[in-house]
Amino acid sequence: MFRLIIINLPVADHKKTSVMDKGHIAKKEPVQIELVAGKNYAWCACGLSENQPFCDGSHSKGDLRPKIFKAEKSETAWLCQCKQTGASPFCDGTHNGL
Ligand code: FES
Repeated sequence: MFRLIIINLPVADHKKTSVMDKGHIAKKEPVQIELVAGKNYAWCACGLSENQPFCDGSHSKGDLRPKIFKAEKSETAWLCQCKQTGASPFCDGTHNGL
């Protein structure tokens, strides 16, 4: 005779993470910026800056740091302010789904 025994084993949840990988939504739209060739910019990644889309140092208490980038040419660019883009610092349209 067989006896059925069911054991509930804990299952690891690999989807949980304690590290925030995207910043707070500052605005749900990009902002048009005139970039100057050769100039360095610090794009706010945490979303807490009062000087969007650029860093003002507000990230100091979190894990996210600004993205420093150099404009390769002078051009008009749309920089992300929702902080959910996959093409930082540029808008990739992700804000449309927020
Ligand atoms: S403003 Fe963030 S993806 Fe457009």
